[in-house]
Amino acid sequence: MKTPSFYVVGNLKMNMLSHEEAEQYILVLKRELKGRKYRFTKGILCPPFLYLREFAQLPTGLESGAQDVFWEKSGAYTGEISPLMLKNAGAGSVIIGHSERRALQGETNEIVKQKVTTALKHLLVPIVCIGETNEERLRQDTDRILTDQVQSIFSDVSRLQAEKIILAYEPRWAIGTDLLPTSQEILAVRVLIRKILTELFDADLAEKITVIYGGSVKSAFLPTVSWEGGMDGVLVGRESLFPYEIVKMMNMFEEHGEQEIMNQ
Ligand code: PGA
Repeated sequence: MKTPSFYVVGNLKMNMLSHEEAEQYILVLKRELKGRKYRFTKGILCPPFLYLREFAQLPTGLESGAQDVFWEKSGAYTGEISPLMLKNAGAGSVIIGHSERRALQGETNEIVKQKVTTALKHLLVPIVCIGETNEERLRQDTDRILTDQVQSIFSDVSRLQAEKIILAYEPRWAIGTDLLPTSQEILAVRVLIRKILTELFDADLAEKITVIYGGSVKSAFLPTVSWEGGMDGVLVGRESLFPYEIVKMMNMFEEHGEQEIMNQ
């Protein structure tokens, strides 16, 4: 029997303008989490690099991650951040290929692949974003876009490494817009990803890969996204700025996990 396992990933983006603000956030979070224990749910908070030190001290059940990484470990790369720096600052995972980076920094599938390979090599869990734009969706090109992205991400990794990757399906048109795909649309992507991974590896591995959903997530949407949409968790932008919402989502997943165990 499979033990349920869920992720709530908070992408804090370029928010919190001082160390004091970051410390305040953590203080509130700790208060909200007091006395709570999680069996099935893991929280990952990804602050700007500058605050990773503060976020290294999160309560049990939560850990810190980064929002990006460079593919070399040190050297003349102005403005970039090394996977080793992230590890040394306490990060256990890193978001790669977020649509804002793909759109604003021109990150291609090739760059994303390089970053994934580097993260895995340095034992950081890559949380890799995939997703179609609104135009691609209207052209009914979603499946092809997602297939290209997933194939590229997994093209240079071993089976053992593949199992560590967390895929985050984030339709670009749903980010920051309050739009949400239907649970059927989300489930269809879940099935598509499983099919691609079965072809690349096998059904057993395809089943093991964690896939989460991102794009305008609020706690109220968890039933659509996860219970009905089949996702193993959520990647949260705006709502992650409220520690209360993060804890609420973790609690909802936890209760859902309990329920699943009871129904087995
Ligand atoms: P949002 O952002 O929740 O604010 O839509 C999600 C994301 O960009 O990961």
